[in-house]
Formats: sequence, structure tokens, C-alpha cells
Amino acid sequence: MVNKGRGIIAADAAGIAEAIRQLAAGGIVALPTETVYGLAADASNPDAVAAIYRLKGRPAINPLIVHVSGVEMARLYADFPPIAEKLAEVFWPGPLTMVLPVRAVTLAPQVTAGLATVALRMPAHPVMQQVIAGLGRGLAAPSANVSGRLSPTQAAHVAQSFEERAPLVLDGGPTESGIESTIVAVGADKVRLLRLGGVTAEDLARHLGYQPELVENGEVSAPGMLLRHYAPRVPLRLNAEAAHEGEAYIGFGPLKGEFTLSDSGSLEEAAHNLFAVLHEAESSGVSGIAMAPIPNTGIGRSINDRLTRAARG
Ligand code: TXA
Ligand code: MG
Repeated sequence: MVNKGRGIIAADAAGIAEAIRQLAAGGIVALPTETVYGLAADASNPDAVAAIYRLKGRPAINPLIVHVSGVEMARLYADFPPIAEKLAEVFWPGPLTMVLPVRAVTLAPQVTAGLATVALRMPAHPVMQQVIAGLGRGLAAPSANVSGRLSPTQAAHVAQSFEERAPLVLDGGPTESGIESTIVAVGADKVRLLRLGGVTAEDLARHLGYQPELVENGEVSAPGMLLRHYAPRVPLRLNAEAAHEGEAYIGFGPLKGEFTLSDSGSLEEAAHNLFAVLHEAESSGVSGIAMAPIPNTGIGRSINDRLTRAARG
């Protein structure tokens, strides 16, 4: 592998230049986005993409999101129907990933895991944007964690997850929204929800004029959603009013514990804090984690989606 320059460095001009250099040479670099940190490689380089799968321990059936600089680059990789254009206008740059018919022969085949579609998103984070612009090509980037574990919202989470195998990490501070992108499958006539995330179902409905159906199983689902996901290293108990013995309690609003997602009961703040608090709680030496109930509206639905999967793990 080409990851000679490892460690955590600042996401300043020098850091961005080093990231572009390593990516152009076929390396892997962890980069901040507005959702979670991504483990990025040149999406057109088969060896670099293969290295992402190896490093994460990611099943080969689970395709990657390609991060683009905008609609123009997106068009190189996928058919872009008018409805995609409209969604891009409203939600890009930002946490909306669109699954579209793949077009590019320039993408490494593993990026799409053999599917006829490709997942595209334009990230809002300036560091990610500058790296894509500097490389001049799309970046394949899954979340920068070992497959199945908690997602990384801080540079240190990436380093902890991969330990001595960690690639270069550009530290852009804690990520803003804290929960992965919403994924939609864009069909010719309708849009379906594959993963709840930073863009809420209500946001989408407002612009689509209908409530998109959430597809949780079947051939169009996001393959990654069927796998064990987001699990902390100790059992997680949901909708808990208080901790049992040996458990850490994560509060929300009026329910207080040694940790909290949001004292004031803000769902946005809870999404921002979710993975960082779970990382802290699992590292605090407890035998389990108990979580206060989270209202199931807006971004709360995305939080509960992650929590349900984490509790299942
Ligand atoms: O916010 C995010 O989306 C972050 C940042 C780094 O951009 N990325 C992320 O990637 O969460 P990852 O690999 O952890 O999750 C991507 C999901 C997986 O569940 C995968 O199955 C799904 O996207 N996916 C990728 N390509 C797909 C396709 N062609 N059709 C259906 N699902 C797809
Ligand atoms: Mg992930």
C-alpha cells in the first residue's frame, strides 16, 4: 500500500496537498465530511478501491458512495434524470446520496459491487470539496471505521478504529451533522428511501410532493443496511428510563445520566453527538449502555435507525 505518510495531520492547505498527493499515487486517506469521516480513494483506481475493502474488512457485496464535486462530475458517472437534478439543486452540497443508473466505464468495478447503479453525493465539507477538486476525479469513500463498528465523527475515532493500520487522517475537527447521509434510489418516476440520514423524510417529502417509501429489504435496498452495523463493543439497551447496575446511562432532555445526547432535548444536537457519546460510553469500562428514548420525528428517525441497528449488534 502507498500509505507512507500516516498519522493525524491538520486539514490545512499543506494537509490537503498531502492528501491529494497520496490519493493520486493510489493511496487511502481519511477525510472529514459534514456527516462522518470518510475513508477515501480515487474511485477510478481498482487497487486503491480494493485496499478500502481490505482495510475496513468490508464485504465485497457492499458498494461504496462516490463523492463528486457537483452535478457536472456526477453526470460523468451516472444518468441524471430531471428529478435528480431537482434534488441536487435543493440538497447538494449536503447529506443526500442518490443511487442512479451507472454510466462510467472509468469507475473501478468494485465501487458498485457489480450493481447497475452507483451511489453519488456532493459533500458540503470544504476539505472534502478541495480534495476532490485537486484530484479532479470522484472519491470512493465509505465511513472511516472497521466494518460493523461505530461510525467516526472525529479524527481520533479513525485512528482508534484502525490502530496501527490507520491511514493518514486529515483532522477537520468534529463533524457537523454527525449522522451519515440519507440515501435515495432515484427511479424514472419515483424516489425511494434506502437509508435515513442527515436529510429527513419530511425534507424530501416537501420537495418531492409525496412521502418517499422506505425500502428496507429487497433488491433495490442499500446492501450495507442488511449487514450488522454501528455496534458498540458492549450491549446497548434502548428506551431506558434509567441504568441497570454496570450500565452507563445516556440521557436526552430531562432524562439525565453520566452522558447526554442533548440536555436541551434538541434532535440536531443529539445527531451531532450520537457517535462520539457512544464511543465514549463504550470506552468507559462499563458492561452495557442504556439509552434514553429519542422522539421518532425528523432527524430522530435517523438516530433511532442507527440505535436499533446498534442494539441488534
Ligand atoms: O455520509 C455518508 O454517506 C458517509 C460519508 C463518508 O460520505 N459515507 C457512508 O458510506 O456512510 P458507507 O459506505 O458507510 O455507507 C454507504 C451505503 C452502504 O449501505 C451501501 O450499501 C450503500 O450506501 N450503497 C452504495 N452504493 C449503492 C448502490 N449502488 N445501491 C444501493 N446502495 C448503495
Ligand atoms: Mg458505514
